[in-house]
Amino acid sequence: MTVPFVDLHAQYLTIKQEIDRAIAEVIAESAYIRGPHVDAFEEAWARALGVKRCVSCANGTDAIYIALRGLGLRPGDEVITSAHSWISTSETITQAGGRVLFCDTDEETFTIDPADIERKITSATVGIIPVHLYGQPADMGAIMAIANKHNLWVIEDCAQAHLAKYKGQVVGTFGNVATFSFYPGKNLGAYGDAGCAVTNDDRLADWMATFARHGGKGEHVMEGINSRMDGLQAAILNVKLPHLLAWTEARRRVAARYDELLSGVGDVITPKVAPDCDHVYHLYVIRTGKRDELWQHLTTAGIATVLNYPKALPFYPAYAYLGHGPTDFPVAFANQSRILSLPIYPEITDEMIGFVADQIRAFFGHRLSASSDDTFARRGGPLPSVLRRLSSAV
Ligand SMILES: Cc1ncc(COP(=O)(O)O)c(C=O)c1O
Repeated sequence: MTVPFVDLHAQYLTIKQEIDRAIAEVIAESAYIRGPHVDAFEEAWARALGVKRCVSCANGTDAIYIALRGLGLRPGDEVITSAHSWISTSETITQAGGRVLFCDTDEETFTIDPADIERKITSATVGIIPVHLYGQPADMGAIMAIANKHNLWVIEDCAQAHLAKYKGQVVGTFGNVATFSFYPGKNLGAYGDAGCAVTNDDRLADWMATFARHGGKGEHVMEGINSRMDGLQAAILNVKLPHLLAWTEARRRVAARYDELLSGVGDVITPKVAPDCDHVYHLYVIRTGKRDELWQHLTTAGIATVLNYPKALPFYPAYAYLGHGPTDFPVAFANQSRILSLPIYPEITDEMIGFVADQIRAFFGHRLSASSDDTFARRGGPLPSVLRRLSSAV
C-alpha cells in the first residue's frame, strides 16, 4: 500500500460535479479576475468567520505583506513572530521595511511562547504576528493581553488554521487583522494560489483593498501592488466552503485515530491540544528522537511524510545576519530534528491510517495494531461512509 501525504484528487472526486460546473460558469462568463465569484467568496468567508470585511488577494504571503503595509509599518519598526513557521511570516516583515524579532515556541503546542514575547519587546516593537501553526490556535488570551499592555497591533497568521477556535472563538477574530492562505493543500484550498486578509476595521480593509489593486482602479490614490484573487479560484472556494466543517471533523477523527494507535509507541509524542482549543489538524506532527530513521523507514514502506519545517526560521541562511544560535530558541531548535508530519486529509481511509500506524509500531518493535479491526470504520472513519463510497465509486 502507498499512502500519499495529501490526495487532492480524492477530494476533487467527491465534489467533481459542483467543481466542474463552477469552472465552466467562470469560463462562460469570462469572469477571470475578481468579479462576482470573488465578491461572493469575500462575503461568504467574512460571514463564516463573523468578521466585517474580507479582502481577497493572490496568496497568503501577500496577505501578510498587505496587512503590514496597511498597519503603517515604518523602516526600523520591530515585529515579533514565531521562530517556528513557514518563511512567509517573517520575510514579509522585512519586505515591508520592518525588522524581524523571533520568539521561541511553547514546548507542547509549537506556537509562539507568550513569555518570550514579553522578553523580546523593545521600544521599537510595534506588533506581533502569532501563527496558529499546524491548525492549533496560539495562546491568544496571553498574546492579546501583552499586545494591549504594550500598545502593539496583532496580525494573526491563520494560513494553517481555517475555523480553528480558541476558547470557543474562531481564530482570525482576535487581532487587528488576520491573514489566510488558500494554497491547494490547505484545509480550505483553491486550485492555485489564493489568499485574503480579514478585519473588523473598515478603514484598514479599504486601504488594503486599494493597495492590493494598484492603489485604486481609475484613480490611483497611491502606488500599490497587483495582488488579486482570480475568479476560478474564488468559484472553487465557493464550492468547497460549505464542506469545510465536515472536512475539519474528518481531520479530527483521523487525528484521534492516530492518537489512539500511536499512544505509548516508542518515544513518539503525539500532538497535544491546548486546553479550550479546537485544533483543525492542517498537519499531524509527531515528535521522536529517532525521526530520521523513522522517516527513512516510512519512505521505504511507501508512506509519504514531510518535515514542517526542516529548520526553525532563525537557523536558515536567510537569517544568518541576525547571528542566532541554538540557545536563543531551545524549543524550536530541539523540535527541528524531532518533528515528522504524517499523512492527514479528510479522504484518507482507515486502512491507510492503520498501515501508517502499524509501520510506526513495527519500527519501534511494537505488535501491530489489528488495523483490520473495523471498529473505526463502524464509527464512520475519516469521512462519513456515504462520501467514502462516493469517492471510491468515481
Ligand atoms: C504559516 C503560513 N503562513 C503563510 C503562508 C503563506 O501562504 P501562501 O503559500 O498562500 O503564500 C503559509 C503557506 O504555506 C503558511 O503555512
